[in-house]
Amino acid sequence: MTSHWGSPDDIHVVILAAGQGTRMKSSLPKVLHPVAGRPMIDHVLATAASLAPATTTVVVGHMAAAVRERLAGQRGVGFALQDPQLGTAHALQQVEPLLRGRQGTLILLSGDVPLLTGQTLRGLLAAHKAAAAAVTVVTAVVERPYGYGRIIRTDGRIARIVEERDATAAERRVREINSGIYAFDLVPLFDALRTIAARNAQGEYYLTDVIAGYRRRKRPVETLLVDDPGEVRGINSRSELAEVSALMRQKKNEELMAAGVTLIDPATTYIDPDVVVGPDTVIHPGVVIQGQTRIGTACEIHANVRIVDSDVADRVTIHNFCLIVGARVANDASIGPFAHLRPETAVGAKAKVGNFVELKKTTLGPGSKANHLSYLGDATIGPGVNVGAGTITCNYDGRTKHPTVIEEGAFIGSDSQLIAPVRIGRGAYVAAGSSITEDVPAGALGIARGRQTNVEGWAEKKNKS
Ligand code: UD1
Ligand code: CA
Repeated sequence: MTSHWGSPDDIHVVILAAGQGTRMKSSLPKVLHPVAGRPMIDHVLATAASLAPATTTVVVGHMAAAVRERLAGQRGVGFALQDPQLGTAHALQQVEPLLRGRQGTLILLSGDVPLLTGQTLRGLLAAHKAAAAAVTVVTAVVERPYGYGRIIRTDGRIARIVEERDATAAERRVREINSGIYAFDLVPLFDALRTIAARNAQGEYYLTDVIAGYRRRKRPVETLLVDDPGEVRGINSRSELAEVSALMRQKKNEELMAAGVTLIDPATTYIDPDVVVGPDTVIHPGVVIQGQTRIGTACEIHANVRIVDSDVADRVTIHNFCLIVGARVANDASIGPFAHLRPETAVGAKAKVGNFVELKKTTLGPGSKANHLSYLGDATIGPGVNVGAGTITCNYDGRTKHPTVIEEGAFIGSDSQLIAPVRIGRGAYVAAGSSITEDVPAGALGIARGRQTNVEGWAEKKNKS
């Protein structure tokens, strides 16, 4: 008799991700296609982690190096290589060397089923334990079962699973499908896998054949029907990628609305799962909020704004058509329309950034204004500064970037160029249309432009000649 180690309560998660994903027609491995801003397999790994498993193994094969590399940062995740890819049973066999002699429950997940919740997995574990089953299959009843394995029952009990391609016309009408998610008793599993043959339309080793095998040997086989079939939607094509992405967005939107955020049109609102939005914030149609973004309370974000990895405080108004990436915006500030805040920008409280203004690596002090047509890069701008229309910081000499400093209360006249490195002192003025190449001391007026001459009667003389 073999001796087993580990605890019978141990959970071992295996995620299948070796398949080619032919139907995606992509040079990117299927499981790396993003859903709500993250590779779909990341969502599966996050759900798996919520079970605190003893081990987590991803089976890689097709473009294994790319998948491994993308997941390298994930703690506690091991890999097994399946090469060539001969089917789902063959994929699972590749983890045998890693789990040999272990005991407990093996939870099998698919890298292409990203909506599955931790709650469903906990339900699966509980049902599996309670029935002391050899395998528990997660199933769903769906409107369009096309493409999925069908659950074939006799006398109400699951007898076997038949794949779409191998099914008879009558079997294809069955609407209960295999989600591809299972709990297995680990100890008998690998012996059972060895008995599977590749006698089917695809000539592959089907994991689903374990079910019929266990039934023949009178081992307890159970099913768990999920309430929400959307949760087990698999992604095999671009069209399913779009559908699953939409479901994930809907879920996030519902959560936000339940927490007091107004979405004028949830159908056109795109908010990534990790984004935090405070109550009483109003989000208009066509807004995209991505990555690690935090939006405070009572903000208004108008239509067609995209915000990425940024921090927006409370009562901020963002007018239409702004792009905000890696920036911080303080309370009561106003941005846009048509503003571009680039990384390392900080807009102070009550400050205003108006139309066609770009800020890069720039601090705009509290109450300061840059209302029209400006480029402000590598600039440190104090409080209460007025940056006139068309002001440009000339921060780049073709080789390096240079800083501009504008101190508190300074006034930069319209259409000025500040040729960096340069400093405008506290309360100083820059005359409109100046090309400033030297520092302007506090309280001074810097004026740097050609003097105007008027040629009297010039037009009349021109017309005569
Ligand atoms: C599989 C199930 C089907 C179920 C469906 C749920 C089998 C035979 N069929 O079908 O009953 O309804 O999932 O989504 O199991 N993979 C490997 N190595 C391989 C083949 C596949 O790792 O050799 C991986 C894939 O990368 C994928 C998962 O296994 O993550 C499922 O494979 P896929 O080809 O998508 O199977 P389906 O046809 O969807
Ligand atoms: Ca699939």
